[in-house]
Amino acid sequence: MTNLEEISVLRTTESKISKDLVEQNEFGAVISDHMFIADYYDGEWHNPRVIPYSDLTLNPATLALHYGQSVFEGMKAFKMKDGKVSIYRIEKHLQRFNKSLDRMCMPTVPDFLFKEALKKLVDTDRNWIPDGEGHSLYLRPFVFASEARFGVKIAEEYKFIIFGGPVGPYYGKPLKLKVETHYARAIKGGTGFAKCAGNYGASFYPAKLAKEQGYDQVLWTDGKEHKYIEESGTMNIMFVVDNLLITPATSDSILDGVTRDSILQLADTLGMKHEERKVSIVELEDWMKSGKLQEAFGAGTAAVVAPIEHINIEGNDYTLAPATNDTFMMRVKHKLMNIRTGQEEDMFSWNTVL
Ligand SMILES: Cc1ncc(COP(=O)(O)O)c(C=O)c1O
Repeated sequence: MTNLEEISVLRTTESKISKDLVEQNEFGAVISDHMFIADYYDGEWHNPRVIPYSDLTLNPATLALHYGQSVFEGMKAFKMKDGKVSIYRIEKHLQRFNKSLDRMCMPTVPDFLFKEALKKLVDTDRNWIPDGEGHSLYLRPFVFASEARFGVKIAEEYKFIIFGGPVGPYYGKPLKLKVETHYARAIKGGTGFAKCAGNYGASFYPAKLAKEQGYDQVLWTDGKEHKYIEESGTMNIMFVVDNLLITPATSDSILDGVTRDSILQLADTLGMKHEERKVSIVELEDWMKSGKLQEAFGAGTAAVVAPIEHINIEGNDYTLAPATNDTFMMRVKHKLMNIRTGQEEDMFSWNTVL
């Protein structure tokens, strides 16, 4: 048994860090100097290490490339107001990571390995964490089947890798969404609740069609009847109707978002009542026709809170009121940002401060 608690660190001698790179705004364009990597074989994880960020050498028969055993997480680390560094909601991300890995017949990652790996990597690359408002170090933990064989099978070898990169705000403007009633992202009994690579590959085509029609994203509906609203792109969806926060209840076809969960907990502290339940397209259209829909927004790690300004249902476009500073979505967004950066009390112990 390898000692997983000892994560070695090999620092780069050729750091590429610069102020411009750390403060840049393009999401996903810049990767920091180091990465974490561990190998799974003989039924356990081995050799956890932080090394200079580099390419991988892959055998063309690498199983993940053919049969899709690949699972990831998306998390963030923040520069706090006192200069310390915090990683947001490690526990909740780890729970979801392991749930996704289980569904894909992949080895789970032990608690301490996930936590220590994140802490070591973030600590090593702490100078890469931007401190501007809405900026952070995005973190990408993932596991993929690395065994090289071409028969269809559950792999016996995997890699667990984490890398990260400085990011700014994900969307620069309010979103136009098209309710998708033809294509499906997920079905009952499928993998919609898992953050596995195939879910994303399969969602590109409908999203591309929606973009060609002038929308930023699709708003997914259930894969069976296309009657109920599920989620959008890489965000859960939330509505404010008659001063009540309503969001589709999670299920096996909806990702259990960490931001969604945070917003629901913060809603209580802001005196906002909330419901998690099914939301039908008919109901959504009624809210918009009657002017009852006060707010609609997406919630996700990358986008944080993304105001929605248009929703298209079967060819009918509805325009929503703009997100002013006194809307719930903006108040909750600021509260979340303040908690993450240590400007308000972390009452739910969401931050792991290094
Ligand atoms: C399909 C999907 N739904 C929802 C979310 C929002 O989840 P979270 O808030 O954990 O980022 C994401 C992003 O991770 C996603 O990819």
